[in-house]
Order: sequence, then structure tokens, then C-alpha cells
Amino acid sequence: MKPFCLPAGHFVRGTVTCPGDKSISHRCIILSAISSQKTLINNFPANDDCLSTVNVFKKLGIKINAGNKKICVFGKGLYGLRKSIKPIFVGESGTTLRLISGVLAGQKFASKLVAGDALSGRPMRRVTVPLRLMGAEIRAKRKPLTVEEYAPIAIKGGNLKSIIYRMPVASAQVKSAILFAGLYAKGKTVVIEPVPSRDHTERLLKQFNAGLKIKGSRIELSGNKDLKSPGEIYVPGDISSAAFFMVMASLLPKSNLCLKNVSLNPSRLGVLKVLKKMNARIRVINTESCKSAGGEPMGDIIVSSSRLKGVIVKSKEIPSLIDELPVLMVAATLAKGRTVFEGVQELRVKETDRINSMERNLLRMGADIKVLNKGKREDIEINGVNFLYAAKVKSFGDHRTAMSMVVAGLLSRGRTCIDDVSCINKSYPGFLLDLKKILH
Ligand code: S3P
Repeated sequence: MKPFCLPAGHFVRGTVTCPGDKSISHRCIILSAISSQKTLINNFPANDDCLSTVNVFKKLGIKINAGNKKICVFGKGLYGLRKSIKPIFVGESGTTLRLISGVLAGQKFASKLVAGDALSGRPMRRVTVPLRLMGAEIRAKRKPLTVEEYAPIAIKGGNLKSIIYRMPVASAQVKSAILFAGLYAKGKTVVIEPVPSRDHTERLLKQFNAGLKIKGSRIELSGNKDLKSPGEIYVPGDISSAAFFMVMASLLPKSNLCLKNVSLNPSRLGVLKVLKKMNARIRVINTESCKSAGGEPMGDIIVSSSRLKGVIVKSKEIPSLIDELPVLMVAATLAKGRTVFEGVQELRVKETDRINSMERNLLRMGADIKVLNKGKREDIEINGVNFLYAAKVKSFGDHRTAMSMVVAGLLSRGRTCIDDVSCINKSYPGFLLDLKKILH
């Protein structure tokens, strides 16, 4: 593997159109496949994770035609999926694995889901527990003397009953798995969230005419109702991808970027709010409600250089910026004063342990970063330094660690090298090309 090296001393200027939102795209494919009409999805990102979801539905007998940034799904209705004789491989896509588990729990046939090496080490019990309560038969891999469960997982569903489920962790993947299973359950499935997580599933369920009601933190779904496709959907740009450009434009001197058509879903705006609190010069313009993608709002984000300052980010804000924490850690290393990210323990179970990956990399670059263990809660404390040293760092096979280290590398003094950046394809295959166009 050839390391990827970054020259320092640059600034960024220009316009970037980030790929379509990964979370929204998974859900668009799923709901299109189990509605009874054809759906055209525009601005669909051809990244490894979303292609995993496409592949799963092809294996389940759904016709899907893919073109350039467009994909057409020929839905067969709630009960139109066909058993796959062979185990279905979901690659490294955790969202595919968890969300599809919910759909398969509703099917009368048995399925087996197999994942790549890293994903096979990520927890599945958070999904298997509620799906079993609904009546699905599930077998999953266990390690000796532990209760946690992992892929591969075998699911035999059908005859589901509705449940009222108070979620122990704020997780949009768990919430969505239960709601997708709830489409097949008798009666009303209720999910109660401890803290709001991204609500793309709820917005799209409404768009597909499902029987959904939201009362504060309580989401209610009436099962056994056919879904009706809106026919055409536009996926707005991914704010999690835009976040890397927001941080580099904020911290590189003489920089100014326009990030076009970014999703501005309120449950995903944590990164924007925190960067603004840190003193970043960020403006949002051309906002519109993008009615064709579940009423997801979108707009253009303008960012220019500024001097950032430290902030305290509370546990309840974490779900709204969970995937942006690695790059926000980079921002904090160069902000004036102290930043604390409270209650970030969920980072331990992402594509890699992102507390470990970012702490190790940033320490190598001279950052002042501490992980504070407070029982079940973990906080990260970062005291800003004047500059980062160039270093040899690692992606740990994680796309967001890799892209965060690209940003850190651009901000460092000298030439930073990252061992392997091929994992970036998981969410943003064109990231380095887009970066090249705006780097001066
Ligand atoms: C996602 C939810 C989040 C996020 C992940 C995508 C989704 O995971 O980290 O990248 O699309 O539902 P959790 O549900 O585990 O918080």
C-alpha cells in the first residue's frame, strides 16, 4: 500500500458539490424496494456503502438500474422480496446491516447476512434485542463468555407483533431497524428516543405514505399498510462529507469555499452549530425545502478563514454530530483554549474505535488531547496548540479518520503521510479529486 502524502502551506478556494447524503440514500433504496411502484432516485452517491444496500436488494429479487448519479428501483411491494438462497454479503456497511435486519425480520423466509471483517466486530445486540421482542427468530455470532452479538446473523421473520420500545442508546440505525420491522407488524409500533437522532427514516416513511405519527420523542407507526412511492426523489448533499471542507476552510488562512446543495436536516446540524460557536465564519444561503427527498431542507454553505476558539459540546448534542466528531477534534487542536466533547463513547463502535484512531494520530502531530473516563461516559478534552507537526499517521481503515487526517495534514507544518486512504471510497470516492480542484 502506498501512503498518501499531503503538502502543507496551501489555502482552499472555490465551490464543492458534495455527493448525495449516505444515510438518506440507504433509506431511499429500502423504501423504494418495498413500495409497489418504480422510484427514480437522483443524486445517488456511488459509494461502497450505498452500493452494498443496492446489492442486497438485487439479491432479494429487486430490479435496480443504475446510471450516472441516478438509480431506478422497481419496487415489488411490502411482500415482494424473494428469498436469497446464498448468504447476503453487506460489505462494511453498518447502516445496510442494521437497517436490512429490520426489513428481513418482516419476511416469512429465512436469510443470512454476512459482513466484512471490521463490521463483523461491531455490536448487533442493540438491533437483535428489539427485533426478537417483535417475534423474529435471530441467531448471531457470539464471542465466548460475552453477551454481545455480531454478524454473521441469520434471521427468520414473519408474524411480527408491535412493541413499545424505549431505546437505551440514541441510534438512528436501531430506530430505523425497528420502524422497518414495524411496517410488517400487527398494530402500532412505538419507539421512544432518549435524545433525538437523525430522522431521515421518519421523513421518508411519511413521503412513502406510511402511517407515521411523531409526538415529541415518541414515534408511532401503524403496520401492514402498503407503501406508495413518490415516483422521484432528489438526495441532497451529505453534510458529513461537507464537514471536512468546513473545517479546512475555517483553519487554512486566505480560504473561502462554497459548499453547494448540502442537506440541512435539523437533526444533522450539530457540526454547523458547534463550528459557529467556535467562531467560524459560516453562512447558509439559498435554503430551500427539497420536497422530493422527504421534505429534507438543503442549502449552500459559505465558509471562510477565521480564528477558532474552544467550546464545550454536551452529551445531548453528540447524536447531531456523531460522524463529524473526528474532524471537529482536528478543529479543536488548533482552536484557542479548551474544547471538551462530552459523552462520546459511541465513537468506540464506529468503523474503527474513533477515539483511539484520532487520539493516536493527533498525539503524533503534537496535539494536546486527553480521553477522560467517567464510568460509562467518556469525554475528550483538547487544549489548542499553535501548530500541528507533520507526521506519519494511519487511517485505521476508517473513511472518516482518513479524511480527518487529510484535513489535519493540510494544516500541519511539513509533509504528513497517511498509510492508506482507499477506505475513503466507503462514503466519498471523489474526495481527493474534489480537494485537488480547490487547493491552491
Ligand atoms: C447512521 C446513523 C449513525 C451514524 C452512521 C449512519 C444512519 O449511527 O454514525 O454513520 O444512517 O442511520 P448510529 O445509529 O449507530 O448512531
